[in-house]
Amino acid sequence: MRDWRQAWQAALYSPGGFFARGERPSSHFRTSPLVGPELAEALLELLSRLDFALGGPAALDFVDVGAGGGELSAAVHDLAPPALRRRLCVTAVEFQPPSLPAAVRVRPDLPERVVGLLVGHEWLDSIPCQVVEVHSGQTRVVHVDDHGTEAVGPPVTGPALDWLHRWWPEAERAEIGLPRDEAWADAVSRVRAGAALAVDYGHVMALRPRRGTLTGYLAGRQVPPVPDGSRDLTAHVAMDSCAAAAGGGVITSQAAALAALGLSSAAPASGLAATDPLRWLAETARAGRIAELTDPAGLGGFHWLLHGSMLP
Ligand SMILES: C[S@@+](CC[C@H](N)C(=O)[O-])C[C@H]1O[C@@H](n2cnc3c(N)ncnc32)[C@H](O)[C@@H]1O
Repeated sequence: MRDWRQAWQAALYSPGGFFARGERPSSHFRTSPLVGPELAEALLELLSRLDFALGGPAALDFVDVGAGGGELSAAVHDLAPPALRRRLCVTAVEFQPPSLPAAVRVRPDLPERVVGLLVGHEWLDSIPCQVVEVHSGQTRVVHVDDHGTEAVGPPVTGPALDWLHRWWPEAERAEIGLPRDEAWADAVSRVRAGAALAVDYGHVMALRPRRGTLTGYLAGRQVPPVPDGSRDLTAHVAMDSCAAAAGGGVITSQAAALAALGLSSAAPASGLAATDPLRWLAETARAGRIAELTDPAGLGGFHWLLHGSMLP
């Protein structure tokens, strides 16, 4: 038995662990970069607004932290307009570097300095946390064995208890978000000019679940969270605590953010089907992908947390 954070960390990142052995998220769950090119298009729009606000620096970064298979990095590189691409440095940060076009840099750790846009797309939810539970009025650490059987551990104390009181006071069971807060604050601090964006499933104080959200994913199915390395383990992110740890930031929904960046799921004009059926087909498919990205009950309900002092 060990505490959930240690078990979760080992299950994902120790040798032979789920991500450490090179499992690609695309084999197990669908994320927005896998839907199609539209998320990359929206991020390029954000990047070009930042570029304008920054006065067109000689080198403009796009840093994709927790890049998984690198689909988002590759799409941003491929779809960048030529004038921007000449100055664009795309970096995929991933423990297990994916194979990507040579123009995309791949590294296992975050760069020291970013001028442009740093994105953590479904990164924070993959950072392991301690799990705690209230028993007879006392909040206790939850321990777990390799089969997922849990036991009550010692009382929660110190910074973990402070975090719980500040961010999740009504919890019967909760994931302690401190490691995510720290990781996000560190990532944001590396952006010297531009913006940092976290996109994830999450919650904020007013809508915090009472019993946490720790779960597993395997081959497209949601499965029990067994920390044996066989599956992804994840829990929703306390977006407001990450925002505060990094000094503020704006939280909105993916649906609202994509609309603000110009994506629309409106169907093409019906007359187009008769005059240009291939274009009508392509535009209908695109509208369907945007509808998936903006569905409030699905990806559209994801949170966007944006930090930046030089936003247009
Ligand atoms: C849930 S996947 C998301 C993949 C991709 N961003 C997407 O949305 O499709 C999280 C990825 O983050 C990686 N990861 C987690 N912490 C990391 C870190 N500190 N540095 C580099 N990669 C990390 C994991 O290896 C995993 O591939």
